[in-house]
Amino acid sequence: MPIRQLPDLLISQIAAGEVVERPASVLKEVIENSLDAGATRIDVQLEEGGVRLLRITDDGSGIPKDELPLALARHATSKIATLDDLEGVNSYGFRGEALASIASVARVSLSSRAANAAHAWRISNHNATAEPAAGTQGTVLEVADLYFNTPARRKFLKTEATEYGHCVDVFQRMALARPDVSFTLSHNGNVRQRLLATTPEQRLKDVLGPEFAGQTRAVDEQAGPLRLSGLAALPAYSRATRDAQFFYVNGRFVRDKVLAHAAREAYADILHGSRHPAYVLFLELDPRGVDVNVHPAKTEVRFRDSRGIHQFVFHVLQRALAAPVHSGSATIHAGATEQAQAGYQFAAPTHYPPPLQHQTSLAVNEPAAHAYLAFAKAAFNPASGALPSPPTSLPQSQSAPPLGYAIAQLHGVYVLAQNEAGLVLVDMHAAHERILYERLKHVLDAGAPASQPLLIPALIHASEGEIAAAGEHADTLHRLGFELAAAGPQELIVRAVPTLLAHGDVPALIRALLSDLREQPASRVIDARRNELLATMACHGAVRANRSLTIPEMNALLRDMEATERADQCNHGRPTWSQLSMKDLDKLFLRGQ
Ligand SMILES: Nc1ncnc2c1ncn2[C@@H]1O[C@H](COP(=O)(O)OP(=O)(O)O)[C@@H](O)[C@H]1O
Ligand SMILES: [Mg+2]
Repeated sequence: MPIRQLPDLLISQIAAGEVVERPASVLKEVIENSLDAGATRIDVQLEEGGVRLLRITDDGSGIPKDELPLALARHATSKIATLDDLEGVNSYGFRGEALASIASVARVSLSSRAANAAHAWRISNHNATAEPAAGTQGTVLEVADLYFNTPARRKFLKTEATEYGHCVDVFQRMALARPDVSFTLSHNGNVRQRLLATTPEQRLKDVLGPEFAGQTRAVDEQAGPLRLSGLAALPAYSRATRDAQFFYVNGRFVRDKVLAHAAREAYADILHGSRHPAYVLFLELDPRGVDVNVHPAKTEVRFRDSRGIHQFVFHVLQRALAAPVHSGSATIHAGATEQAQAGYQFAAPTHYPPPLQHQTSLAVNEPAAHAYLAFAKAAFNPASGALPSPPTSLPQSQSAPPLGYAIAQLHGVYVLAQNEAGLVLVDMHAAHERILYERLKHVLDAGAPASQPLLIPALIHASEGEIAAAGEHADTLHRLGFELAAAGPQELIVRAVPTLLAHGDVPALIRALLSDLREQPASRVIDARRNELLATMACHGAVRANRSLTIPEMNALLRDMEATERADQCNHGRPTWSQLSMKDLDKLFLRGQ
């Protein structure tokens, strides 16, 4: 065949392969067009999963009569005119090819009324001359019989339910991005979602459910031209899949490796490996710092400074997740109580201590450290009657402390405390484990681990493999604060352990640690491995169930939790405490109803 220019329709059909994968991708393009046109109300009607019909009605600017044919033409756009515009683009669209692509693979009718027009005008891909039509200001786009003329593509469409599901995903993504716009969605004549214009937090609740909203941390930080805001779910709300991860760049939903990786890392310390974090995050930056013209569907982006973006997202998110327990923060909660909802807000509560200051305050916070040591001693040494410092001597307790004061211990497992809101339940092992873990990290970060020689060195029966591991990893163990050596073919002698763990079950701790060391592949990076080891140490060092605590010991634990980063969840991502408000309790007894 000789070389020849392809006809326009065929060019559009080729382009459609990238833009119009399925009904949901049509929906994305047309909702974006409505938003670009400044719509405040967008109404989506679908039939048969959007394959049979997609009808989008908006109250946006509308299209003047003489521009209507251009709207369906290839490479015709009202959004950019120059390369400079392209580089600083802040509209969803700019390629001018979505409607043309859609019109090349479906029956399209476009009717629109501009602000000053007497009535609407309508064109379709069969009839390019505009005809008068009825309608208020705005645009109605109908896309019928997707792929009617490209049967090969039609075969790739899935069941009606699947295609509808993808449409719902797109609808929700767009709705999350623009809480100031009202959206409705109906399918086969039934209204499925009706979202009124509202605040960002209410929209999140409307779309993702109150359960998500009740278990999140607000994120909102700015650094120069960068801003990250939104909500990050605590590990208790983690998912088995990535279905609850929404990342937006300048209002555009994206799937980006840099951002996903930064988020993953921020959760690494508190989320079990097989679980996926849930979040809705909005990154804003100068449009010139990000290239959205990477792929026709624009869900991929390229950052000019991807390292900087990664750092920023990682640190902001990690800080938000690590913020210590505070009365104003969202509470961990199984259900959505009014209290949880009231505490949930977009702007990060300003009373969170800035993290750096918080860390130094941990290191130099003498009274807290004393209380901690007293508690640790008391907790691990049943014979000791040492009383931790009374809570009133702690710096943060001028007003009532967030987690309140202990009143009892339940079955040797839970600490019950009373705070302003009602009853606080603490899983004492999980909470103590988290505190120990954070403290171990701190001690190690600060340099030499405080190591305590054992008065009577402990002899531990060990397997050959364990003894070999002790020899092979002597360096690591030493750095963690242990001193041990082979004492015979089946015996280890332990001469020193980290001070923080001196009162724990030393043999069990050493065995767990050695088995960890043996199991870990040698290729693991030191840092990830170190934290895993610390987690094992914390788990074995933490107060066991059935160890009864005195009230002062319990109060010391509560104060320690308040002063500890990420105290809301143990190292395995389980919550460490939960609040039952007076309202919750009243409900149990049908009080005041
Ligand atoms: N709902 C709408 N309201 C007003 N104008 C619209 C609407 N949909 C499309 N348009 C106009 O049609 C043009 C072409 O749309 P499209 O093919 O999606 O390209 P792009 O969005 O990249 O400009 C847009 O630039 C816009 O001027
Ligand atoms: Mg568009």
